Amino acid sequence: MEVMVCSMAKRPFYVSISGKGGAGKTTLAALLLKVLLESSHDDDILVVDADPATNLPQVLGLAISKTIGDVSEEFRKGFYRLDNIGFEKTALLEYYIMRDCIVEAEGFDFIAMGRGEGEGCYCYVNAVLSGILGKLVQHYSVVLMDMEAGLEHLNRRLDRHVNTFIIVVDNSLMSLKTAEKMKEVIKEVELKADEIYVVGNRLSRRREEAVIKWASQNGIKYVGTIPNDENVAEFAANGIPLLNLPKTSEALKAAYQIAKNINLI
Ligand SMILES: Nc1ncnc2c1ncn2[C@@H]1O[C@H](COP(=O)(O)OP(=O)(O)OP(=O)(O)O)[C@@H](O)[C@H]1O
Ligand SMILES: [Mg+2]
Repeated sequence: MEVMVCSMAKRPFYVSISGKGGAGKTTLAALLLKVLLESSHDDDILVVDADPATNLPQVLGLAISKTIGDVSEEFRKGFYRLDNIGFEKTALLEYYIMRDCIVEAEGFDFIAMGRGEGEGCYCYVNAVLSGILGKLVQHYSVVLMDMEAGLEHLNRRLDRHVNTFIIVVDNSLMSLKTAEKMKEVIKEVELKADEIYVVGNRLSRRREEAVIKWASQNGIKYVGTIPNDENVAEFAANGIPLLNLPKTSEALKAAYQIAKNINLI
């Protein structure tokens, strides 16, 4: 189904990809990244894995040495030198994170949030990432964030620099309910959403029609569906990076159209 969404080209493009667990967030993040890398835009791209499960590096075929969680934990345990006179602790932690966690990949930079150890550390790592993002995003024209399932990242305002929200839904009613709650929370916690889009993943024809209707009733722009793709399933099963998907892949073609619909390319 052809979907037309007209908006002015904009940069910076700070995108978060969120939704119900297993809806296809990480897959969409990888597909959009591939589309961006193959587009003619000369963007500075940062990819952020903001899911403590840290699945995106594998999906992209990246070796990461440390997550923000790792460095924060080591910092807390005193593994880093703290004798740099003139630096306050937070600034020093941020310095070490920038030094040790940013992976320079081909065509993009990458950083993973990871997780801390034990109770309470999870919130702490979120707060550290949130603080660092404020400084990092200024250096990039496109930031793609793969979020943790559910709403918590919104409540924690991890999306506070995001101007474009993409919510992924699958065939389940629960994924639509999650999307509705997300829209509410985005408003409640006053996140500055220029756009809230919904992307279907593996929707049946009938469900696609239902999602289009649901989206218009809920004031959310439907911008396309990623079809079930044998290539994606095969690559995932064998641990092959999605950045190696062939151009003929149906999921990639759909991602290309979605990127066009939201004016990302
Ligand atoms: N369009 C698709 N075609 C084939 N397989 C897919 C497709 N979308 C997702 N998958 C597969 O479904 C599984 C879940 O997808 P994915 O990891 O992208 O979901 P997620 O929303 O990021 O999950 P989580 O909430 O755990 O982070 C993966 O194994 C992925 O390869
Ligand atoms: Mg994921």
